[in-house]
Amino acid sequence: MSYIEIRNIFKIFGPDPKSALELAKGGADKDEILAKTGHTVGLHDVSLTIEQGETFVVMGLSGSGKSTLIRHLNRLIDPTAGSISFGGEDILAMDIPALNAFRRKRLGMVFQRFGLLPHRNVMDNVAYGLEIQGTARKKREVAASKWIARVGLAGYETKFPDQLSGGMQQRVGLTRALATDPEVLLMDEAFSALDPLIRSDMQDELMKLQAELHKTIVFITHDLDEALKIGDRIAILKDGKLVQVGRPEEIVLKPADDYVQAFTRDVNRSKVLRAKSIMAPISETEDEATTDLPAVSANARLADILPIALANGTAMTVLDSKDTPIGTLSPQQIVEALDG
Ligand SMILES: Nc1ncnc2c1ncn2[C@@H]1O[C@H](COP(=O)(O)OP(=O)(O)OP(=O)(O)O)[C@@H](O)[C@H]1O
Ligand SMILES: [Mg+2]
Repeated sequence: MSYIEIRNIFKIFGPDPKSALELAKGGADKDEILAKTGHTVGLHDVSLTIEQGETFVVMGLSGSGKSTLIRHLNRLIDPTAGSISFGGEDILAMDIPALNAFRRKRLGMVFQRFGLLPHRNVMDNVAYGLEIQGTARKKREVAASKWIARVGLAGYETKFPDQLSGGMQQRVGLTRALATDPEVLLMDEAFSALDPLIRSDMQDELMKLQAELHKTIVFITHDLDEALKIGDRIAILKDGKLVQVGRPEEIVLKPADDYVQAFTRDVNRSKVLRAKSIMAPISETEDEATTDLPAVSANARLADILPIALANGTAMTVLDSKDTPIGTLSPQQIVEALDG
């Protein structure tokens, strides 16, 4: 069983969702349902599983249903049909007290506009979740200080949000979410309001934290480069429907349709593709023949392999983590992969 299981979720917005639901189940799409009934399809038969410790990215154009999907996970909205479970527990069956406890203890949320409390300083913002949980002041300040230092904001504890840059505010937002040690982090366009360099820093920071913390992260973005950089897997939504779920390389190498293809067109493929996904595999009997060639590791990205390829001009041997040759990679293969 997966940690988060989303099964056949439909979300229809409008006065009589059930009537439109029948049409949706019968195969009518978003435009048709809007034209016939005036109802908006937010999600159309979406089923997904998310593993514990995974960074799962949801992407799609504006209006494709990303926020609607994430709002189901904290039950800001309930589905018209379908089921959602966390660790085997049906979250749709929770009553209000159980739901409040679930949100407070098991979820952390990071918002696009940071969502900091303007009249609380950095320390009190980061410690907020612990305060709500009833943790004593001394104890929560010790915990908050650790997080503040961890994201490079030591010395800013008594500053207020409007005294910080956007990037600093979002560091506070991220650590506020982490301070209660939630199982799941929900991040809806969390870095989208930041300028490109700061945004890239925040992506690196999140990946660094995640390498230690192994949270289950559901991260929404409309930026494929961001999705490919931080996602273990990526789900792509279109008009409320799931069009593809896959690892970054699968999305780039095997886009499910023209919509996904359009997203991938301008991607920097050298930063996504790895040696192992484009090499020509070799059988064990061929090992000897490849030992004179320069070696690259199976997980190396093409951006890092290119200089080696250019310097040598020959094929390379691809080694697995135990330094066993598992494939060969020619400059021609690299050029073709980068070309798409
Ligand atoms: N509360 C609501 N009432 C009516 N329609 C809604 C509501 N919330 C979302 N929708 C509709 O559901 C669809 C999906 O919206 P959603 O906000 O999930 O898109 P999104 O992918 O997050 O877009 P963006 O990138 O612009 O944030 C849209 O057609 C939207 O108009
Ligand atoms: Mg949205």
